[in-house]
Amino acid sequence: MPISATYNTGGAQMPGRWRGVPRQESGAVWFQMRGMLTVFSCSKAPGIEFPLLHAAKPPIHRPYRKPKFRVARPETVESSFAMSFKVCCLNSTIGVKPLLQTRSASAVGIAWRQQVLNCSPQFQNFASGKSVTVAMTATMPPKAEPRSSGIYVPRETNKQSAHSILPERLEIIKSLDAWAGDNILPYLKPVEKCWQPQDHLPEPSSEAFYEEVMELRARAANLPDDYLVVLVGDMITEEALPTYQSMLNTFDGTRDETGASPTSWGVWTRAWTAEENRHGDLLNKYLYLTGRVNMKAVEKTIQYLIGSGMDPKTENNPYLGFVYTSFQERATFISHGNTARQAKEFGDSKLATICGLIAADERRHENAYSKIVEKLFEVDPDGAMLAFGDMMKKKITMPAHLMYDGIDQNLFANFSMVAQRTGTYTATDYADILEHLVNRWNVAKVDGLSPEGRQAQEFVCTLAPRVRKLEERAQLKPKRTPKTETFSWVFDRELQMW
Ligand SMILES: [Fe+2]
Ligand SMILES: [Fe+2]
Repeated sequence: MPISATYNTGGAQMPGRWRGVPRQESGAVWFQMRGMLTVFSCSKAPGIEFPLLHAAKPPIHRPYRKPKFRVARPETVESSFAMSFKVCCLNSTIGVKPLLQTRSASAVGIAWRQQVLNCSPQFQNFASGKSVTVAMTATMPPKAEPRSSGIYVPRETNKQSAHSILPERLEIIKSLDAWAGDNILPYLKPVEKCWQPQDHLPEPSSEAFYEEVMELRARAANLPDDYLVVLVGDMITEEALPTYQSMLNTFDGTRDETGASPTSWGVWTRAWTAEENRHGDLLNKYLYLTGRVNMKAVEKTIQYLIGSGMDPKTENNPYLGFVYTSFQERATFISHGNTARQAKEFGDSKLATICGLIAADERRHENAYSKIVEKLFEVDPDGAMLAFGDMMKKKITMPAHLMYDGIDQNLFANFSMVAQRTGTYTATDYADILEHLVNRWNVAKVDGLSPEGRQAQEFVCTLAPRVRKLEERAQLKPKRTPKTETFSWVFDRELQMW
């Protein structure tokens, strides 16, 4: 497990590297850092190599202690702390010998390989008593891997709750079937009025096919790699549609019981899936024709993802499920809207149209799902409020959070970072969606709630500003050492992460 550390010495970046095995416990890793940061000084001239352990002057020791901190999987999390000290010998060459030790929650200590940083005139900064920041970045591997025996093991096995809906709420949702027929099914578009992928692709039966493909490739030639990675990630998310239909059919009271159930909920689920199916289909074919992405790597990622499924923590509960889908459809509306805008900026107007059409579908679907939750707020305000609060406490996981291409253990986190950096889908969007739903459902004005319901109301109404504040603070943090990652989707080319 690689653990990398960076010493920030008042502007000079001194990379170091340690290896160790922190303890993993139920989806998280705990560290405790303690030890001694030792500064050596000697009278030799700057730039001349010398063994620090034989420094002419006695070393200065300063203890530091970092309280226990938790690294959530599978994100890359950085923790940093700082200390100030002065060296005893001014205008001399000095070095830093960190003695780092981690301690897991269960007090299993791990000694880190000591590393002596090279002496450098830059260390003279210390002489002025500037603070030294020691940052630690830990990258966690996934908990479960596909086994080489060929038996596929899901990549994440969180503790999962099931069938949490109360009997009276199950009756409420069942009683809304006729209402859904009148109010939700109209959000579907008749097939004959829907666009189809072929409307926006070169016509293979036409003599002009090859010419049209060449035009498409010329338009796509200027799409940068980071744009392509985000678009591929969005396309893969759409292509895992079997998972989402399965997810809808886990909901008690609304599932399609037979596969061709005539209930409004059943009709909606099938027709929604059929509309969504066009999204991945069109993006996949378009990206294939551009010749810009590694299609086999993309196809492997889709197969892995559908095999892994998703864990949205909706507990078979349609109250939770429809809060999730309301949020998620708006997130995809925002993301596709941004890829449309960016495609136009990069000179691919056809791709802009495609992404725009998909975004419009997502908007329509968002309106339908939001209307269901709006109705739940009307007939069962306490139940709807508790569901909204519960989903936001658990945080909305993206549908493709178990994404894997057979190579990159942090593929989803890396893809998300590129989406954040390119402004396609960001932490600010998360806060905006939350705020939009709070307003859409008039959450602040809901009354007649239980004490738990009022608590949930308070939580969701104050969450968006808190998310924004955290994001602002993250932006204000000192710039980290530039980092790159390779993506199999673009033939293992490197992309800037930050
Ligand atoms: Fe979609
Ligand atoms: Fe969607």
